[in-house]
Amino acid sequence: MHKSNSGKLVIVSVFFVAAILIIAYQFLVNNDSPINIDSPAHFGTPINQDDITVQGASLGRQLFNDVLLSRHQQISCASCHQQTASYADLGKRFSIGDRGLPTTRNAPVLINLIWKSHYFADGRADQLEETIYNAIRDTLELNSNIDLILERVRQHPIYSKKLKTIFQVKEIEKEHVIDVLTQYLRTLNSWDSRYDRMLRGDLVFTAEEKQGQMLFESECASCHIAPFFHSNTTMVSLLNQKLQSPSLRNIHASAPYMHDGRFDGLDSLLLQHPEEFPQTFRKRALNQQERKSIITFLKTLSDEQFLNPNSY
Ligand code: HEC
Ligand code: HEC
Repeated sequence: MHKSNSGKLVIVSVFFVAAILIIAYQFLVNNDSPINIDSPAHFGTPINQDDITVQGASLGRQLFNDVLLSRHQQISCASCHQQTASYADLGKRFSIGDRGLPTTRNAPVLINLIWKSHYFADGRADQLEETIYNAIRDTLELNSNIDLILERVRQHPIYSKKLKTIFQVKEIEKEHVIDVLTQYLRTLNSWDSRYDRMLRGDLVFTAEEKQGQMLFESECASCHIAPFFHSNTTMVSLLNQKLQSPSLRNIHASAPYMHDGRFDGLDSLLLQHPEEFPQTFRKRALNQQERKSIITFLKTLSDEQFLNPNSY
């Protein structure tokens, strides 16, 4: 009697524990928490404040790295946008797309995109979603189309299950695929460089860094505007092309430079830039000492954590 009672107790307890584990597992799998953009005060409010969730962004990250997106399933977004290069294409003037042909522009860094109002070298897109549709369609990039990708995702056991859970739907639509990719792009934010730590009061610049900063402020800051060092408004023209000022954060990691990758290094770039633009007030190239000083300052914009693939 005593024995069978404790036997029952064991069985009931096992069921009880199992039930709790199942409920906890379901909770963990289905519960999706929001990611808050925890940027420092000097960054201000992002222009794009759409929701990001842990599961949405992490699925977006998987898709970003998956060759399923390209027509011949040989390349992914990450083939041209690598983390160690601040999501530019390491050392490549042009990138190789799905057809084995080079792009006509240098792959840019993907950084602090939610603080940008215009995308691409010429600023022709004003929504992040457009940049993804563009990469999918462009025959020199993924050379694919969203319907083909949707079909593949629907047939993919893991992706289809995750997307249905995230969006609480029975059927996945193209907007869901684009949405998670966009969520991932919104997480590629860099705000922990020496420069940011200096602004937060955690460290003091060396005399050389300070000198570089002052020179930068007088020569460069009108177009590469702090704290992002990109511009949302300035459009300069060069050879009849309208060009935006790109971000200079993590610039050391993303050579070669400019929309056409025409400079391999910062020193050669500064021999011609910015006075190459007809409308710049500068009429003389920077001397060697000035270039060195500015490059020292630019180094303070590197964020090792952002560039380290083990940190995500
Ligand atoms: C074959 C190389 C290649 C692939 C693959 C590729 N990109 Fe790009 N990406 C580029 C190039 C080149 C540009 C610059 C285009 C321009 O300025 O007209 C660019 C620009 C961008 C921009 C604009 C950034 C800015 O600040 O203006 C974003 C965002 C972007 N790509 C995201 C993606 C995503 C997401 C994918 C995958 C869905 C992807 N790219 C796939 C080469 C590539
Ligand atoms: C009149 C506006 C303007 C000024 C002033 C200016 N820049 Fe630029 N900068 C640009 C534009 C526009 C581009 C993109 C040009 C292109 O893609 O061909 C650019 C590109 C760059 C790049 C390459 C970025 C990349 O990712 O490829 C660097 C580095 C750079 N500038 C540094 C500087 C420095 C340092 C100064 C000051 C000495 C400076 N710029 C002054 C507008 C400006």
